[in-house]
Amino acid sequence: MDPSDPSRLSPPRAAPETICARSTPLPRSSSPPLVPAPQLSVVYRFEGLDHVDAVYAGQADGFVYARDGHPNAAALADRVAALEGAESAAVYASGMAATAAVLLAELGSGDHIAFAEQLYGKTISLIDRELRRFGIEASGFDATRPETLASVLRDRTRLVMVETLSNPLLRVPDLPSLAEMANRAGAKLVVDHTFAPLLCRPLELGASYVVHSGTKLIGGHSDLTLGLVAGPAEAMDRVRRLGSTFGLSGNPFESWLACRGLATLPLRSARCCATAMELAERLGRSPAVRAVHYPGLPDHPDHDRARSLLQGGFGAIVTLDLGDRGRADAFIRHLGQIPFAPSLGDVATTLSHPATTSHRGQEPELLARHGITPGLIRLSIGLEDPADLSADLEQALAAVS
Ligand SMILES: Cc1ncc(COP(=O)(O)O)c(C=O)c1O
Repeated sequence: MDPSDPSRLSPPRAAPETICARSTPLPRSSSPPLVPAPQLSVVYRFEGLDHVDAVYAGQADGFVYARDGHPNAAALADRVAALEGAESAAVYASGMAATAAVLLAELGSGDHIAFAEQLYGKTISLIDRELRRFGIEASGFDATRPETLASVLRDRTRLVMVETLSNPLLRVPDLPSLAEMANRAGAKLVVDHTFAPLLCRPLELGASYVVHSGTKLIGGHSDLTLGLVAGPAEAMDRVRRLGSTFGLSGNPFESWLACRGLATLPLRSARCCATAMELAERLGRSPAVRAVHYPGLPDHPDHDRARSLLQGGFGAIVTLDLGDRGRADAFIRHLGQIPFAPSLGDVATTLSHPATTSHRGQEPELLARHGITPGLIRLSIGLEDPADLSADLEQALAAVS
């Protein structure tokens, strides 16, 4: 019987309970919708046992159970794989879930991971606190000084993890050199590319995996939580299986929303980078600002590397040093339009205070080593008119001074 025939499920004289309980397929249309729909079904229907066998074996197209895969995640993953120049990609419930999937797929008891001390605070907690409980060894290194990586590599080092642009000082590691060092030691480089989608392709620079928090610039509207991993097909099969077993998968509606976000990512990225550059230059001239950290500025310590590695701009994030916690707090309170909302990548400009949010709970020595002081304010630049943003920032700075 035709599976899309509604009478198959609810015969004409069915009881109300039966009619209400059973879903009916959507009417057929010879004209397919222009926009693919969010496919919210948790589970898929099969003709019989040969059919389910064929889908599991990959001999027939299709999905079985949403935690293992669904059309919206597949559509999003395909686009991100194409953007990253990767053979394959997969979608996870958050950026942290995406990172966890790679680490859990690659590391086992007795293995070692070298991590940049500049990583997002929760990523450091995952590596340096949680994975240690399972017998996985970890050592931090300074991503901007490759010699510090050399000093921590071991026989059992399987992974090296860095970010393209570090948070919040926007340091730019030499990805090709770090990849070469990692590969020479038999390890794979994992790059968290959350701050820099489109600005470079880490896989082409030697990385084995690229990870994104899709919650940020890819989603672009602060209304979804997702993560992505892209890499070689064979390795990604394992990362994908692990995501299903640990239940880390992303859901259909947020995958659908993220595809919508992707449509405008190049436009948003170009505009945010241009405004960020303009504001960084202006803020650098303010007497109330102790320092501006932005890789597009010639006095940024990694400016030359940023110019050679990044294309299309230097990113949407600008970090200001206002000197101390009191001045940072006064600045936040005097801003009229820019909210203190500790995330990034929204269409509207937001700000964060790394010492109390993204780096909360990290070792004070580690924060001091990397210059993460209570006076730092991290701005995530959005799509507003630069003059309006500048006016709000300048009146708040005037109040602080
Ligand atoms: C650089 C970076 N990586 C990963 C994450 C984690 O992403 P999510 O919040 O989607 O889990 C964040 C979150 O702020 C981040 O800033």
